[in-house]
Amino acid sequence: MKLQINVLEKKHDKSNFDCGYSLLDSYIKKQARQDVSRDLSACFVLVDELDKIKGYYTLSASSVKRDEFPDVMQKKLPPSYGDLPTVLLGRLAIDKSVKGNGYGGILLVDALKKCLDISASLGTIAVIVDPIDENAQTFYYKYGFVLLPSSGKMFLPIKTIKELFS
Ligand SMILES: CC(C)(COP(=O)(O)OP(=O)(O)OC[C@H]1O[C@@H](n2cnc3c(N)ncnc32)[C@H](O)[C@@H]1OP(=O)(O)O)[C@@H](O)C(=O)NCCC(=O)NCCS
Repeated sequence: MKLQINVLEKKHDKSNFDCGYSLLDSYIKKQARQDVSRDLSACFVLVDELDKIKGYYTLSASSVKRDEFPDVMQKKLPPSYGDLPTVLLGRLAIDKSVKGNGYGGILLVDALKKCLDISASLGTIAVIVDPIDENAQTFYYKYGFVLLPSSGKMFLPIKTIKELFS
């Protein structure tokens, strides 16, 4: 099966998307295009030759309070920045039919590359994810994300992403 990553469009078939989490299924089926049209998020989809959606992720601008980051990171930043600019990888999901074939990792790396590109023209200190459960947390740990204990979200510094792609 040949899959491609594209910007979400009307022609993409989301009707049978099933990642095993109804919240994430319902988001791509009912909400994603509306959020994109309202400029709340960008949505990228993994599609097959028939334009059936097999995975997706969303990106939005966001910020995180300075004191949510580990002390060691805070110490390196000027105190005047109370809220730190970040990119939120709000959702990431893979359809059950193609799970376990590396596509989750491929979508994550694609998202991180986009975040790195964005950071060249708009200051962002980290990519934030909001894992849906402990399994998702384990998935993100694999890629070096660090837990923000106060919110349960996780982050990966842009500096680390730069090193990954250098
Ligand atoms: C988590 C998810 C995106 C992973 O997608 P996938 O295509 O099945 O994962 P991949 O095949 O790319 O696996 C990449 C690596 O992560 C690991 N991994 C995959 N799913 C995992 C999980 N649930 N827990 C821990 N590790 C996981 C794989 O073992 C693999 O590691 P390896 O390279 O050392 O073998 C997918 O299972 C999913 O959609 N889950 C439901 C929604 C979800 O949890 N989204 C994430 C955050 S909200």
